[in-house]
Amino acid sequence: MSKIDPRDRMIVALDLPSVTDAQAMIGKLGGSVTFYKIGMELVYAGGLDLVRQLSSNGKKVFLDLKLHDIPNTVEKATQRVADLGATFLTVHAFPQTMKAALKGKGSSSLQILGVTVMTSYDDSDLIEAGYAMGVRDLVAHRAQQAKIIGIDGLILSPEEVGSMRALVGSSLTLITPGIRPKGSEKGDQKRVMTPGEAISAGADYLVIGRPITSAGDPEAVANAVVDEISSVLG
Ligand code: C5P
Repeated sequence: MSKIDPRDRMIVALDLPSVTDAQAMIGKLGGSVTFYKIGMELVYAGGLDLVRQLSSNGKKVFLDLKLHDIPNTVEKATQRVADLGATFLTVHAFPQTMKAALKGKGSSSLQILGVTVMTSYDDSDLIEAGYAMGVRDLVAHRAQQAKIIGIDGLILSPEEVGSMRALVGSSLTLITPGIRPKGSEKGDQKRVMTPGEAISAGADYLVIGRPITSAGDPEAVANAVVDEISSVLG
């Protein structure tokens, strides 16, 4: 497994309704968190400036925008995201979209992550949407295409990480949400793993939101997650 600091492997999802709430959470977490995920909710509430602020304060940002549009639009949008200083950007794992995003990132340090199949989809949703294969096959198909196209990494559910690591090898960065430290509420996540289990299964990075942001002492939970990651990595 690549040499990434255990603390940098924990990405805290700032799924909060306003920039003020997000800034308060970042303040509470202090030095315990080095990597944040900013998604559509916060971006549409004015969170893009926060990407710049966090980047210039030495934090890393995963911008979860799940881009999908015609190649020219994806390429230009990716160029602008690279200018913001983000580390990761998500796009839907369609070949045209992935190729356009890779072109757009150019020589910047931005890494493009493919979302294979949304975890809210099951086989019947794919049939309804006109696909001729089930979730498992479509995830594998897209992961293989993503690797050939040269994408930097993939977002996967915890239960897909092990088989996808075997399929794509060590060249792709694998990131998983659905992380729940022992004893924490599952909320709406159905298939979860503990931080240690997900790292052992082959994940490079973990996305974790509510177990940290809804905790009475977010900093203590963040530090406990990092300790668990460190103990698995030895
Ligand atoms: O609060 P929680 O730990 O469940 O947050 C997980 C984060 O990962 C959320 O931002 C959620 O949108 C995101 N995510 C997910 N499952 C996916 C893709 C993204 O939970 N398949």
